[in-house]
Amino acid sequence: MEYFRGLVAALFAACAVFAATIVSASAQGQLNVYCAVQVEWCQAIATNFQRETGITVNMTQKGSGETLAQIRAEAQNPRGDIWFGGTGDPHLILAEAGLSVEYKPAAIGELHPWAVKQYESAKGRSVGIYSGAIGFGFNTELLAKKNIPAPACWADLLKPAYKGEIQVANPNSSGTAYTVIATLIQLMGEDKAFDFLKQMHQNVNAYPRSGTGPIKAAARGETAVAVSFVHDVVTEKNAGFPVDYNTPCEGTGFEIGSMSIIKGARNLKQAQRFYDWALTPAAQKLGFDVGKQLQMPSNKASPLPPGAPDLTKIKLIDYDFVKYGSSTERQRLLAKWDSDIGALPR
Ligand code: G6P
Repeated sequence: MEYFRGLVAALFAACAVFAATIVSASAQGQLNVYCAVQVEWCQAIATNFQRETGITVNMTQKGSGETLAQIRAEAQNPRGDIWFGGTGDPHLILAEAGLSVEYKPAAIGELHPWAVKQYESAKGRSVGIYSGAIGFGFNTELLAKKNIPAPACWADLLKPAYKGEIQVANPNSSGTAYTVIATLIQLMGEDKAFDFLKQMHQNVNAYPRSGTGPIKAAARGETAVAVSFVHDVVTEKNAGFPVDYNTPCEGTGFEIGSMSIIKGARNLKQAQRFYDWALTPAAQKLGFDVGKQLQMPSNKASPLPPGAPDLTKIKLIDYDFVKYGSSTERQRLLAKWDSDIGALPR
């Protein structure tokens, strides 16, 4: 009998702890995160934020252009609370459209100037979380086998030797690919940039949906060259694939990977808490620790991950984020890409 009473008491205690856990989890609420970095990193932020705060995180991963389209489509009935990651231009478009809200993060004074620039350009409705530069990733074994040199300059990508050997993502879905187009225009002017894209089209074998599609294909020997962010090349290299990268001799563009709180967020307090958390050095380490992601983090106290491309050593252009992050300019350039490049036969 004594044993039985003890058992019942233990059961009651266990139930009470279980109920308290549920109550405290639901008391902390939930957070719906739209995530546009690689899925491993998205999972890491979801798991760690949930563990540290008790807030239940629901996470959806998509490309930058696709996330923008989704938030626009849901504007009357927002389902997401916060958008984490992806190139900065669609975040600026969201701000311009009044579909994100102002928030001054606690760490604003600890951020690199480029991250604060995104905050200022968006009038407080977005902030930089990381940065990375565009370059050429290539499969070293495939190039050696085909006796093709590694591309070192944008001009190289037009050479007949690369016929059918190049991949770059589709700029409608991918912020990476849109950054490539904006970079070329800033380097050579719009007419020449579109001539360049037309000529390069002869050498392109596919325009995948996601920005990392081309380098993943190069890593697996499905294409020799990928135009992509160079940190994504190092991630594949660290995973053991025979890839390496060059940054263009003429100069190159870069992204301010960003974060925004969605207007009408049902979980605004949780979204603000996440915003502050994501800018701390401890949270900014997760991309590397768990997802082996090698962007430059925006908090000055966050170290550059080991082996990450050092942006201060790359010939970067003075990228006009405001111009190429305006919705009229982006829509115009994407429509032009669709009609002048995407529609061309191959
Ligand atoms: C990868 C890169 C990020 C970049 C993102 C853009 O995840 O590591 O630095 O912001 O791609 O993705 P998208 O598919 O829009 O080109």
